[in-house]
Amino acid sequence: MLDINNLTVSYKSDKKLVNALGPISMKIATGDIYAVIGPSGCGKSTLLNVLSGIIKDYGGDVKLNNEDLNPKTHNIGLIPQNFGLLPWKNVQKNCTLSLKIKGKVIDSSTSERIDYIQKKLDIYSLKDRFPNELSGGQKQRVAIARAFIMNSDLLLMDEPFSALDAITREEAQELFMNMWNQYKTTTLFVTHSIEEAIYIGKKIAIMSHCPGNIIKIIDNPLFNTENLRENEEYLKLSSLLRTIIKKGWKI
Ligand SMILES: Nc1ncnc2c1ncn2[C@@H]1O[C@H](COP(=O)(O)OP(=O)(O)O)[C@@H](O)[C@H]1O
Ligand SMILES: [Mg+2]
Repeated sequence: MLDINNLTVSYKSDKKLVNALGPISMKIATGDIYAVIGPSGCGKSTLLNVLSGIIKDYGGDVKLNNEDLNPKTHNIGLIPQNFGLLPWKNVQKNCTLSLKIKGKVIDSSTSERIDYIQKKLDIYSLKDRFPNELSGGQKQRVAIARAFIMNSDLLLMDEPFSALDAITREEAQELFMNMWNQYKTTTLFVTHSIEEAIYIGKKIAIMSHCPGNIIKIIDNPLFNTENLRENEEYLKLSSLLRTIIKKGWKI
């Protein structure tokens, strides 16, 4: 369980503190996947940066599995928009980077897991390549592989597919859901695509303008549905979300 309690973040601007996020309180059950949508600048990346440990100065408290959130002891995966690969490391080393950082020994069962995930994501034959020798879709698959290889307690994805073209994005969404259905890692998935939110979010959390609050959480009956756009319920839910956006992210 991820338990976020009265979380607030302020940034310094012209020597003044400006509230950028919250207060946010929400509980995310282990094995759940939330799509988070909200207006540009409302604090989505700030929220993920707190949860990943990049921002340490925040108000309120965050607990993961009943312990104070601690990026050193918890296993937290972050997939940023630009894929987050190290250009000077090859695919294999990028895939195992998080294990190395955590000081994990790669034993035979871990090695099998790595091979399995790389094969599933179709990057097994690219192990020796460097990021600049990969297409956008391949880079994204390496980032997804890394996140599942590290077996995270919490996976954070910040508009991870927005840099991909439409067809590659759909492939990446499907491959990601394939992996997610197998490992059911607790996930927060920030997106600005309504369609992506409806495909990927078991729940859809909607944020208000900056400083962002969670204004609504929708149980998504269409989660994981194939041929989503042909579904009648899809049209209803996407038009509800579009109405909220038209009203200026208000309900
Ligand atoms: N390092 C920073 N210093 C000052 N203000 C920031 C910083 N990072 C983000 N902000 C501000 O905080 C708000 C939330 O930003 P962000 O979390 O990036 O929004 P989102 O990801 O939803 O687009 C914005 O108003 C942004 O301008
Ligand atoms: Mg952002």
